[in-house]
Amino acid sequence: MNEKAEVQNPKSRIQNLTSINDLTKEEILGLLKKSQELKQALKKKPRLPLADGKTAALVFEKPSLRTRVTFEVAMQQLGGSCVYLGPQDIGLGTRETVPDIARNLSRWVDCIIARVFEHQKVTDLAENSSIPVINALSDDEHPCQILADLLTMLELRGELEDATIAWTGDGNNVCNSLILACSIIGMNLRIATPRGFEPPKAIIDKAHEYTRSSRAQISLTHDPAKAVKDADFVYTDTWASMGQENEAEQRRKIFQPFQLNKELLAKARPDARVLHCLPAHRGEEITDDVLDGPRSIVLDQAENRLHAQRALLAELLGSLTRE
Ligand code: CP
Ligand code: NVA
Repeated sequence: MNEKAEVQNPKSRIQNLTSINDLTKEEILGLLKKSQELKQALKKKPRLPLADGKTAALVFEKPSLRTRVTFEVAMQQLGGSCVYLGPQDIGLGTRETVPDIARNLSRWVDCIIARVFEHQKVTDLAENSSIPVINALSDDEHPCQILADLLTMLELRGELEDATIAWTGDGNNVCNSLILACSIIGMNLRIATPRGFEPPKAIIDKAHEYTRSSRAQISLTHDPAKAVKDADFVYTDTWASMGQENEAEQRRKIFQPFQLNKELLAKARPDARVLHCLPAHRGEEITDDVLDGPRSIVLDQAENRLHAQRALLAELLGSLTRE
């Protein structure tokens, strides 16, 4: 028996969330359903003891507003608690090896929620712990963000299949998780990036494995107008992700034609909605009028981080029995 199964919800087949492709389409849709159920239930009751007495360690190498607050609030609402370990606290891979940290945390807490630079740190944590590990953003992926985004789009449309999303900007971690999610679920995605900033080939190849059965259409272009034409949703993110601060000035020039402004948005469907994972860099990847305008759903996305992650924690920790 897998060691993890002993300390996880025995009814759940989900072991970790290191990448969105740890989940099948059915598992993603199941988590979204559970997110909606708990969202309604929490309106009537302040707490649901689905992770009563459980503790999550938040291992964060990078700053965060949304991810940290929503995981901490979600754990509280489920009857559990969090220990926050910031960049100066444990020296992930410097003061101590990642496997050693994973083995120690497994003796004290019930879940590791990790925000890291190198994606391998999150997979190393997962491989060396006997408790669930959740990727709270790595240089390669941001699966929790995408669960919240899917929930937001589902609430608006009533279904996800056949929606067309346009991405304009950097082929980054958020874009990678979106590509995998769309290809698994069967949503169409058109990605516009500058040359040299396309998503990694490994992600595109993986997506094509999934599209054979999901029939999703995933395309790459260097022309944002082409990507956005008649799209249902237009998504953008920062031009310089955390860790790329020293490239920010150079990137501002390269990415300018990919700015999400009212001229670009006018090419999408008249009822198209605007997505951004936040934090936004106003006047760079997105203009104020679009970010704050009537078609923006960025705060619904931010709220849904709480609902999606609460469902994920309930799923992973729900019937957990630790001796
Ligand atoms: N979208 C997101 O992950 O926000 P934070 O970096 O503030 O957590
Ligand atoms: N791509 C951004 C996402 C922030 C939530 C970054 O990695 O900084």
